[in-house]
Amino acid sequence: MPTFGRPLLAEFPLDPAVTYLNHGTVGVTPRVVLTAQQALRDAIERQPSRFLLRELHAPSTSVGQPRDETPRLRVAANAVAAFLGARGDDLVFVDNATTGANAVLRSFPFAAGDEVLVTDLGYGGVTNVARFCARETGASVRTVTMPWPFEGQAIADAIVDAVGPRTRLAIVDHITAESALVLPIADIVARLRAQGVAVLVDGAHAPGAIGVDLESIGADWYVANLHKWMWVPRSSGILWAAPDRQASLYPAVISWGLDEGFTTMFDIPGTRDPSPHLTAPAAIALWHAWGVAAVQRYTHDLAWQAARHVSARWGTAFETPASLIGPMATVDLPAPLGSTRDDALRLRDALLFEDGIEIPIHAYRDRLRARISAQVYNDMEDMERLASAVLARVR
Ligand SMILES: Cc1ncc(COP(=O)(O)O)c(C=O)c1O
Repeated sequence: MPTFGRPLLAEFPLDPAVTYLNHGTVGVTPRVVLTAQQALRDAIERQPSRFLLRELHAPSTSVGQPRDETPRLRVAANAVAAFLGARGDDLVFVDNATTGANAVLRSFPFAAGDEVLVTDLGYGGVTNVARFCARETGASVRTVTMPWPFEGQAIADAIVDAVGPRTRLAIVDHITAESALVLPIADIVARLRAQGVAVLVDGAHAPGAIGVDLESIGADWYVANLHKWMWVPRSSGILWAAPDRQASLYPAVISWGLDEGFTTMFDIPGTRDPSPHLTAPAAIALWHAWGVAAVQRYTHDLAWQAARHVSARWGTAFETPASLIGPMATVDLPAPLGSTRDDALRLRDALLFEDGIEIPIHAYRDRLRARISAQVYNDMEDMERLASAVLARVR
C-alpha cells in the first residue's frame, strides 16, 4: 500500500503548485492509467479498421462477421461490472452520466399528465433532461425541497412522501453534486419502487468514491461516471439497466445495432475514441494495487476531518453526519464572504488565481459553501492552506 497524501501527488499529472481540492468535478487520471490509455491508442492507430470495426464490438447483423473472441468493449464492461457488483450483460458504456440519463429519459414512455420527481440537490444538467422530456410529452417535473439540516432518513422520507398518483419516475442521486451527500440509496429505491415509481439513480460521483454494489441497489437504471473517482480517463460513463428495462432502452444517439439487443445497440454508437473505456481494467488494477478499502477509508476520513477542521477555523457549523460523507464534504463559508452566485464565482477565482487553491464554491440558501474533494494525493496540509486562505479574506 502506498503512503497516501503529498507523496502520491507525483503519481498524478497535476500542477504541484496548485492545491487541488476539486477532484470530484471532472476527475484526474493517474499517470500509470494514462500510459495504458496511450498504449491502446497506439494499438488503434497501427490498424484502425481492424481494431475499431472487427475487434471492438460484437458485429451487428448489418456490419461485420461473427468472431470467436469476446469483443474488447465487452471485456472492459465485464471488468467494470465485476468491480461495481453487476453482470457485464447489464452494463453498457456511454460518454458520461448525462448521455446515460438522456438514453433513459428519452426512452421512457411518458404520457401527458405524468410526473417526474427530482430533488433540489439534483444536478442541473440531468434535471434539464427531465424537463426537456416532460415538455415534449405533456408530463411535468416536480422538484422536492430537501429538509435542512441534512439527515439521511429525513431526506429519504421527503422524497418518498412527494410521490403522487401520477408520479411515474424519480431521479435520485447516489452522491449529490454540490452538497456531496451520500444518500441511503437502496432504502430510497426500495420505497419508491414499492409505490410503483421507476427509479433512475444518478451515480455520477459514486464509482470509486464509495463501494458500489449495483445489483443490490435495486434501481431500474443507474448512470455513473468512471472518470470522476474511479481514475478512468475522460470521457467514460456507464449505464446499468435492470434486465426487464433493457428491451425498451435506446441510446441517445441511434446507430447500427438498432433492436439487436441492449449491449449490441449501445456498443456501436458511431465512430469515437474507445480508449477511455478500454482503459478501465488498467484503472481497476491500480485500485487493487493501492487497496480499494484503504483508498476509500483514507479519502472518507480526510474529507470528514477536513470539514471539521475548516469549519472550526471559520467558526461555521458543520452538521452533516459522517454516514452521509464520502470523499467530499461541503462546508459553509464565513457569512462576510457573501451569499450570491456572483460572490461564489468571485471567491472561487480569487482562491485559484491569488492563492493557488482550486475548489468549487456555490451559493445555497443564502450562504456560500465550499465543496472539498479529498483524494489520495491530498492531506491535512492542503486543508489548512484552504482554511487560512479563506480566513485571510474575511479579515
Ligand atoms: C450528480 C451529477 N450528475 C451528473 C453529472 C454530469 O456528469 P457528466 O458531465 O460527466 O455527464 C455530474 C457532474 O458533476 C454530477 O455531479
